[in-house]
Amino acid sequence: MKVLMVSPEAVPYAKTGGLADVAGALVSELVKKKVDTLLVMPFYSTVARHFNPEDTGKSVKIKIGDKTHEGRILRDKHAVFLKCSELYDRAELYGTPEGDYPDNARRFVFLSRGALEAAKALDFKPNIAHCHDWQAALIPLYLKSLYSKDPFFAGTKSVMTIHNLGYQGVFPADLYGITGLGPELFTPEGVEFYGNVNFLKAGLISADMITTVSPTYAREILLPENGFGLDGVLKSRSGSLRGILNGIDETQWDPAKDKSLPSNYWAVDLAGKAACRKKLVSECGLKDGRGGLVASFVGRLSGQKGVDVIIEAAPEILSMGVNLVFLGKGDEAYQKALQEFGRAHEGRVFANIGFDEGFSRLVYAGSDIFLMPSRYEPCGLGQMIALRYGTPPVACRTGGLADTITDYDPYSGKGNGFLFDGASAAGLLQAVKLAVCAFSVPKRRELIIKAGMRAGFTWKKAVLGYTGIYKELSG
Ligand code: ADP
Ligand code: GLC
Repeated sequence: MKVLMVSPEAVPYAKTGGLADVAGALVSELVKKKVDTLLVMPFYSTVARHFNPEDTGKSVKIKIGDKTHEGRILRDKHAVFLKCSELYDRAELYGTPEGDYPDNARRFVFLSRGALEAAKALDFKPNIAHCHDWQAALIPLYLKSLYSKDPFFAGTKSVMTIHNLGYQGVFPADLYGITGLGPELFTPEGVEFYGNVNFLKAGLISADMITTVSPTYAREILLPENGFGLDGVLKSRSGSLRGILNGIDETQWDPAKDKSLPSNYWAVDLAGKAACRKKLVSECGLKDGRGGLVASFVGRLSGQKGVDVIIEAAPEILSMGVNLVFLGKGDEAYQKALQEFGRAHEGRVFANIGFDEGFSRLVYAGSDIFLMPSRYEPCGLGQMIALRYGTPPVACRTGGLADTITDYDPYSGKGNGFLFDGASAAGLLQAVKLAVCAFSVPKRRELIIKAGMRAGFTWKKAVLGYTGIYKELSG
């Protein structure tokens, strides 16, 4: 079985969010299962700073509109990079806090066409092209149009994984030409979307199988309120839509072995967690006098994540004696709001604006509760990491959060976190109050923490799900 995995980001090379964790972990788990896997992604400047992949001596040349771009094919173990300076030598992956790069359509047409051409150049004849998010979503349609008569891909089936329906790669119609697709596909049944071109839709109408990253999200996206305009398309393909819950790499995210922590700990002996908390409190300059909890947030600063909900609920959260720690990067408006909020409440609120994995580890380990009031959440990795690090999540009951967090029930004492319905300040406050109350009894607190640490979110089940689909498709 040969799998061509195409993703715009993957650990350890480049990451803005959970997609990178998932693509990276999936590749390494498949390789462990002896599935011949080749990951294709752009050679961003950030990859160049930390890795030195070998030059294969081969390249791809793709005509996009009236310009031809050349990409050198570099290789590092199971990953192949397309090196094209004019498209990928940028400070960020997709854009700056002010907005997306204006040539993103061109950058990811190049990735999609380039991945197929690189497979040919390297004589990697895939049984499956597994495409992640809109940046790779043209591939299933390319296989059924531009490459439909190419004997090299005669046996190739496609899997399209939606990590986030909120990002679809929608571009003005006048950019349609650069996809290289014929005019017959620019229709409402094709990739046309309210007069624009929609890259994700290309994948949804043509992939042999569509997956998304949790069972609950797979159901939610069929509803108009969660479908971002594509619920109709998804409904028409619901027979080929599956929800496979992500895992986390339990060797990478392990409080018992995490070298970046001041002290390690595990479910049977939580002493080291207190040392992590102490370090976090001191690094963030928090006044910890009243014995209140430390509540944290780690994530992309976008509307999806509900950081504004936390800010709205913050005066009351602070009045309960709970301190707040934020780590995030993203939209300019949220970055500014958090910075100002942190300055206004020095000693009670700490905001780290940036992407910092090392600090994220201290936050996951050192805080008492983890806030995730997401408006929607296809899967969410933050809550799984927090659970594993003994930091019960307080989260909105949506998507993968509903599939991974079990709401604490004070009567039975069962549960590993606190859920509320609808991303509102009132809902969040209510759940934080329940957490504060449950945590006031040390025995209860310990039970909740241990239930989370023992929950286990390995990749084993997910990989079985994907390999099952690969086998089903390749007959
Ligand atoms: P999403 O993919 O929607 O951003 P997830 O919860 O699935 O959300 O995954 C987010 C991943 O990115 C987690 O591994 C989280 O720890 C990490 N992350 C997000 N923002 C930051 C940040 N500012 N610094 C470090 N890690 C971050
Ligand atoms: C997306 C989603 C997130 C999911 C991640 C990995 O970015 O927002 O919920 O965990 O992809 O699949």
